[in-house]
Amino acid sequence: MDSKSITFFPEQASSIAGTVDNLYLFLVLISAFFSLLIAGLIIYFAVKYRRRSDADMPVPAHGGLLLEITWSVIPLGISMVIFAWGASIFFTESRPPADSMEIWVTGKQWMWKVQHMEGQREINELHIPVGRNIKLTLTSEDVIHDFYVPEFRTKADVVPGRYTTEWFRPTKTGKYHIFCAEYCGTKHSGMVGAVYVMQPADYAMWLTNGGAQGSMSQRGEALFQQLGCVTCHQADGHGRCPTLVGLFGKPVEIQHGQVVNADASYIRESILYPQAKIVAGYEPIMPTFQGQVTEEGVQQLVEYVKSIGPKDTTGAGAPTPSPLTTGSQPGTAQQRATNPTAITVPGKR
Ligand code: CUA
Repeated sequence: MDSKSITFFPEQASSIAGTVDNLYLFLVLISAFFSLLIAGLIIYFAVKYRRRSDADMPVPAHGGLLLEITWSVIPLGISMVIFAWGASIFFTESRPPADSMEIWVTGKQWMWKVQHMEGQREINELHIPVGRNIKLTLTSEDVIHDFYVPEFRTKADVVPGRYTTEWFRPTKTGKYHIFCAEYCGTKHSGMVGAVYVMQPADYAMWLTNGGAQGSMSQRGEALFQQLGCVTCHQADGHGRCPTLVGLFGKPVEIQHGQVVNADASYIRESILYPQAKIVAGYEPIMPTFQGQVTEEGVQQLVEYVKSIGPKDTTGAGAPTPSPLTTGSQPGTAQQRATNPTAITVPGKR
């Protein structure tokens, strides 16, 4: 990475990089083969069928079924191979594994803001452990950006008002370039940063040295009280608004008999646009919190709601105990926050 030589491809530093490169190489070879074939045939036929005298008249050709079938079926087959191969990579890239370590990223003109579950925050830097599946949940405060790490061969649009995800498993320690890959204004080209892929022990050390003031869910809980959410959304369900305990990831019945999934996007929408989806049986009394809470604050609130959600069986984003709610729930996220040596680093997906 640090060598200054210009290579044909960026280094392959994620589990998917080799697969992406193989497909790309296949496309280049197929294109080269047909370009040469067609150019060669043009020259060959131009010479072979050149007009030899003024009296030379071409013989009209009528059909050639075998030829037409051949030049239809072969390209169709090749296209289908490209389609299936590309779709398979696309599906892999768009489905973060359940055991992924989750990190929040917010883009704004012109920087990247990162929040770790344990509470560490960084700007234009992303520290992650090697060999671990990493899932980024991305959003933007202003215009469309795009989070791109060439060495990982992954990129995702970062869209205001929406959560998108991107995942990768870094396979090598080192420092890699983050680019914004969507023109986003004057300093788009300066919206860059670095990913630091570290040994798990170094990463654990980095987490403890971050000086974070509480985990994301703890900060979310503080916001939940500061903004007064707690007065309506009471844990025992006796408030004027639905309780949020055990909500995350569950289906919710809203007006007109519709059912939505209580995911991060739904929580965000309910905070900023509370009238969009009213839970069945409740009045539309909630005010909007636009302008009172930042995108990062919303992310912390989402993590808080997640932490009081139903117990997560996948092990990702496990709940944190909360004095506000249950009090006695065992919390693996909490342990993770206070005891970084408990971080497990599976080398599988
Ligand atoms: Cu952000 Cu380009």
